[in-house]
Amino acid sequence: MSQTASNLPPAIGNEERRTFLSASGLAMTVGLAAGYGSFAAILGQFLYPAEQPRRAWLFVCLAEELPPGEGRDFVAPSGQRIVVARHGQGTNDADYLALSSVCPHLGCRVHWEPQHDRFFCPCHNGAFDRQGRATEGPPAAAGQHLVRFPVKVDRGMLLVEVPVDSVLTAALLPSDRLQPCPAVRTEVPRSVS
Ligand code: FES
Repeated sequence: MSQTASNLPPAIGNEERRTFLSASGLAMTVGLAAGYGSFAAILGQFLYPAEQPRRAWLFVCLAEELPPGEGRDFVAPSGQRIVVARHGQGTNDADYLALSSVCPHLGCRVHWEPQHDRFFCPCHNGAFDRQGRATEGPPAAAGQHLVRFPVKVDRGMLLVEVPVDSVLTAALLPSDRLQPCPAVRTEVPRSVS
């Protein structure tokens, strides 16, 4: 059965057709731009990988000024709190250890308990051995150890390697960083197992 002209749906006008074509063209353009944008972003990351945080060796004190069995608190220019300790009798790299004094669980300060031979976090009874390995509490359950920083002795100077990005050495080593080590003491065990 043939339809009369009056029964047919109204023909799409030129104006509507143009609107439809413009909209679909715009959608296609946006889609292509998004696709190429993602590709460019991935390519950019491949060609120009994100810059690694800058690190530097900072002076803590003269190596021999930190007596065996003692340590000192050190605040890195980036704000990280570190305890640098001398466990050995000598003044070689291996006689020193630098650990974060911030609990990896929720960020409380840990302190050394010589009577228990451990670092202790009072917030949730977290405990760590002298190497910073979690032994009790939530940090042990989650396998969260104290962050360890590289230390070395260079020409008699005790140095610790830390990130320096946020403050960029804060006018590099203000005078209080150059105080003799015994100025601030933290008891630490005398020997390393
Ligand atoms: S913050 Fe140290 S155990 Fe929770």
